[in-house]
Amino acid sequence: MSKRAIKEGVFWVGALHPDRKLFDALMPLPYGTTYNAYLIEGSEKTALIDTVDPDKMDDLFRNLEGVEKIDYIVCNHTEQDHSGAIPEVLGKYPDAKILCLQKTKEMLQDLVTVSDDRFQLVKDGEEVSLGNKTLRFLHLPWVHWPETTATYIPEDKLLFSCDLFGSHYSFGDELFAGDNPVVYKEAKEYYAEIMMLYAKVSVRHLDRLAELDIETICTSHGPVYDQPQKILDLYDDWMRGEPKNLALLAFVSTHGSTRIMAEYLAEKIEKQGVAVKLFDLVGLSLNDISSSLVDAATIVLGSSVVMAALHPCAVNTAFLIDRLKPKAKFAAVFGSYGWSPGPLKKAGELLPSLKVELLEPVVAKGHPKAEAFKELDALAKTIAAKHRAAGLL
Ligand code: FEO
Repeated sequence: MSKRAIKEGVFWVGALHPDRKLFDALMPLPYGTTYNAYLIEGSEKTALIDTVDPDKMDDLFRNLEGVEKIDYIVCNHTEQDHSGAIPEVLGKYPDAKILCLQKTKEMLQDLVTVSDDRFQLVKDGEEVSLGNKTLRFLHLPWVHWPETTATYIPEDKLLFSCDLFGSHYSFGDELFAGDNPVVYKEAKEYYAEIMMLYAKVSVRHLDRLAELDIETICTSHGPVYDQPQKILDLYDDWMRGEPKNLALLAFVSTHGSTRIMAEYLAEKIEKQGVAVKLFDLVGLSLNDISSSLVDAATIVLGSSVVMAALHPCAVNTAFLIDRLKPKAKFAAVFGSYGWSPGPLKKAGELLPSLKVELLEPVVAKGHPKAEAFKELDALAKTIAAKHRAAGLL
């Protein structure tokens, strides 16, 4: 897509990357992604907000054709998918200065080559005039790096929110999100995988943004939000809301015994009135479980024992869950073993960062028998009772 107008004097000039498959060599991108850069033409000065991933630099320069002068490059975030083309943009526009925080300058100089004389430092809350438009800088640390900054233009009621509110969704010709459900589904996965880890410290930014009059949110990935309240409300729920009456039940089974336990437990939990999302971890990607992680009040992990340890699929999933820090309140482990129950009984130790109450594990020697089913019945009842006591059921 080529340069597109958002408001008078405000243009999207970024790049689409529909065929990118993975982000951070980890997150699948079923709809690709975009690197959003924005050109702001004030009556006196011109600013470029962020750049693009170096792989798509040619697209950025094509969108800047005919732009004779850029006075400022706003660096809202130093991660290379937004900052990677800054040296080349500085080369093309020799008078341009980078507007950013001191912290941003330090981080940017760690990542790309930029000399000291190309910076004009700003502070949190400071404003820089472009004539008829004003750039106001809001330091929003930990969405999802320490220097992350948003830029607000009060005259246009426009917020350039950096990675916050983003979605990995290459939008083709549809620059605006409208109420496209796929955008909000992708935004939720993006939140889970990128923002949720820091939600406890970054949730306060929602209050700061609530003080602004915002008509449009221009995020750094995915479509522009022309109905900003929708994504603001969703973030409020994801970050601040109570978890839902939902159990995420993810398992891996080598010879079927753990699968029998998983399917039995899922049915029993549902019979107790708790919704269940059941996932077989083999071949599953992070995207498949991330939305449920945002909502689930209980996380249940099932594994076989292989190589005298939990199955690597379960270990990997436990690691990701622990790092993403969902707001679940309860967790449990179950599974089948051949001769060593130890790894299953100690599986809770794989979730050291979660502030959850660990429920009694259920382990079965080989094929599950009456005793194991009885314990699974009890686990289902316990989960429902915990949800009820927490006011979720
Ligand atoms: Fe889209 Fe944190 O970079």
